[in-house]
Amino acid sequence: MTSLTTIHTSERCCNETWEQAYARFETPEQEVDKFLRRFDWFGAKDWPKDAAIVELFCGRGNGLVALSQLGFTNLSGVDLSADLLGQYTGDAQTYVCDARDLSLETASQDIAVVQGGVHHLPELPADLEKSIEEAARVLRPGGKLVMVEPWDTPFLRAVHAASANALLRRLWGKLDAFQVLYENERQTYDNWLSRPVEVLGVIEKYFHIERQRQAWGKLFCLARRRESASLAKAT
Ligand SMILES: C[S@@+](CC[C@H](N)C(=O)[O-])C[C@H]1O[C@@H](n2cnc3c(N)ncnc32)[C@H](O)[C@@H]1O
Repeated sequence: MTSLTTIHTSERCCNETWEQAYARFETPEQEVDKFLRRFDWFGAKDWPKDAAIVELFCGRGNGLVALSQLGFTNLSGVDLSADLLGQYTGDAQTYVCDARDLSLETASQDIAVVQGGVHHLPELPADLEKSIEEAARVLRPGGKLVMVEPWDTPFLRAVHAASANALLRRLWGKLDAFQVLYENERQTYDNWLSRPVEVLGVIEKYFHIERQRQAWGKLFCLARRRESASLAKAT
């Protein structure tokens, strides 16, 4: 973790990029542990080890690392940032590509994973719909969507109240990194959090939600592609 002693937090907030704050929010090891716990909740131990799994918005690829550690062998990752994707060193096939316009083949995947990605998209609901429709397109019939995104829960409100406090940010570097991330993505993030009904409506248009939980500032959602979802690529 970077020392917080030399840079005042408010300067950091204005100068530090989203990717720098993301790098100090969690170590790769902490991130992999978090993803392993999530995949456990989603029932990954029961998924076939050769399932074709694509992680959309995969960033530096630690979700793929967690999936590899669980024994999955047919993995792909998609992210818009070549820099973040370049930090991934595992065996998954990676694509620098927009999740709203995937270069993956139609009906080529069994499971699509999205963690902390769609809330970055600028236009709601249009961009969300494009990426969810694309996820549905690349999934085979019966394919699963596994999604974890920020959600407006009491815990999240408490974290935001804490991260607005300069002293607490100085004392806890992770809280400071959280606030910098927030300042950098505020527009899309606040928009996302304020429209839960619309968000769930878009997911339900293409997927049947089988299991969901709203806790710890997150939506955890396991959904199955609707038979009626179109397999044609949107133009
Ligand atoms: C908060 S990070 C999440 C990364 C990773 N899933 C995780 O949980 O650590 C969001 C990621 O979405 C990527 N991203 C933003 N817009 C995108 C788009 N339109 N298509 C693909 N990736 C995008 C960013 O480059 C970034 O890596």
